[in-house]
Amino acid sequence: MSRWQNRWAVVTGASAGIGQSLAEQLAARGTKLVLTARRLDRLEDLADKLRSDHSATVEIYPLDLSKPGAPGELFAFTQGKGIVVDLLINNAGFGSYGEFHQGSLDWFRDMVQVNVSAVVDLTHRYLAGMIERRRGDIMIVSSVAAFQPVPYISCYAATKGFDLLFSEALAEEVRRYGVRVLALCPGSTDTEFMTIAKQPARMFRFAESADKVARTGLDALEAGKTYVISGWWNYFQTHAQRLVPRPFVARSAAALLGPRESDQSS
Ligand SMILES: NC(=O)c1ccc[n+]([C@@H]2O[C@H](COP(=O)([O-])OP(=O)(O)OC[C@H]3O[C@@H](n4cnc5c(N)ncnc54)[C@H](OP(=O)(O)O)[C@@H]3O)[C@@H](O)[C@H]2O)c1
Repeated sequence: MSRWQNRWAVVTGASAGIGQSLAEQLAARGTKLVLTARRLDRLEDLADKLRSDHSATVEIYPLDLSKPGAPGELFAFTQGKGIVVDLLINNAGFGSYGEFHQGSLDWFRDMVQVNVSAVVDLTHRYLAGMIERRRGDIMIVSSVAAFQPVPYISCYAATKGFDLLFSEALAEEVRRYGVRVLALCPGSTDTEFMTIAKQPARMFRFAESADKVARTGLDALEAGKTYVISGWWNYFQTHAQRLVPRPFVARSAAALLGPRESDQSS
């Protein structure tokens, strides 16, 4: 029996990619779902599919997490419905590509709000009840970009670094209350992320599927891990570079990820 059977999960960023796969796999495991993202039509279609494929209980709540009040609204929605949330999945997020000084400041502000501030906000709100009940799980979707500085996606990688360190530290704080926290660290994954972040296709040549990444995350959380890197090659690369001096890692990443003329045609 799944750990989350007949329990409620909140999944942010459920309208696409990894979040959608997480929602599908949880519904297949008998979990009741609150799904959120900005695109209402996508959420409605997914909710209909999960109800018909898995007889799932699904609530949807469209929300723009770049708005500072949004996490509070979501929390009030679940409280108002009497929903006891045993699994919080902070998955919504987006990236960027290029030289930081040339990017839009509004884009970076929203990125920090969605990838970091909303994660802190939702985690703080839902954690209180989990600690009281001595039961609950939180997944925060970080990235392999979290483990080192990454020029050309500098702000994005730093947001994911926050997510990873926050998750791992929190996991230790709340372990004694029976609450689990996991950082899921995907490498390149075949979703809408690349297009939205305007990252070159060459960075996604060996991308994993969203289904595979979602399964890795749920299995790791079920197994009580505090972080997981999806894919053995991603795991190897991430840990191998930790043996090398940090400035060298940043310099090599810049050489690998820097814009190339061939990117225009990819
Ligand atoms: N794909 C990769 O290569 C990769 C690698 C490592 C980590 N990740 C992480 O994985 C997570 C999921 O990304 P993905 O790859 O599945 O990308 P995706 O297909 O673009 O999905 C992103 C999800 O986040 C939601 N979202 C974005 N901005 C939002 C906002 N302002 N308010 C509410 N929801 C918002 C989107 O929904 P709406 O647009 O409908 O709002 C969508 O459901 C992200 O945290 C990302 O950083 C991705």
